[in-house]
Amino acid sequence: MNHSSVAISASILAADFARLGEQVREAELAGVDRLHLDVMDGHFVPNLSLGPAVVASLRPWTKLPMEVHLMVSEPWHFLEAFAQAGADYLLVHVEVPEAPQRCLPAIRQLGKKAGLVLNPDTPAEAVSAWLTQVDLVLVMSVYPGFSGQSFLPQALSKLRHLRAQIDQLQLSCDLEIDGGINEETAPRAVQAGANVVAAASAIFRHPQGIAAGIARLRQVIVGMRT
Ligand code: DX5
Ligand code: ZN
Repeated sequence: MNHSSVAISASILAADFARLGEQVREAELAGVDRLHLDVMDGHFVPNLSLGPAVVASLRPWTKLPMEVHLMVSEPWHFLEAFAQAGADYLLVHVEVPEAPQRCLPAIRQLGKKAGLVLNPDTPAEAVSAWLTQVDLVLVMSVYPGFSGQSFLPQALSKLRHLRAQIDQLQLSCDLEIDGGINEETAPRAVQAGANVVAAASAIFRHPQGIAAGIARLRQVIVGMRT
């Protein structure tokens, strides 16, 4: 894999929500490639976060592609609202019964990119049948619900498995990792086949600030070539 083509996605869950527009603009200026927006319903995961209004409010602040990660029990109810709010990618969990069948065609119909997400205990095989119908597969390396958790290394073998399958089928879909990504775990995930890394704490809670967090992640990924 060409490591320089790895994209960094800034997950706003660890941002200062009172200054979201400014922080997102800072991340864009620092060269981040995408934004990752975590949507939680207090049912599929034990936390609440944000809805379409926040996505719509952020849209004028940035040109970056926005990935909306739907950690909700009935994602099909919200696809249209997030699409209208300005999302570019809509990601649904494969563990939600009927989510792939009901959501993937609907997302494409809305003109958006479609993705499937796997929880830490979900095997790679759960998405095999859908690989040709997605633009992105997201592997969770923490149990979803909160930022700031530690990376679960079992995600690495899942990444390797999915990377082999994607390459074998000559698909162009992205393989993204989300959860506990920092300067130590990002290179391991990229080595295992991820071409998109999502990070919240390592960017928005970096002690030297947002730009430094992004620069450091970029540095460790690019440094893998040597
Ligand atoms: C977890 C979310 C992640 C989270 C990542 O439910 O899906 O996107 O914000 O946070 P960090 O990078 O701090 O582990
Ligand atoms: Zn996420």
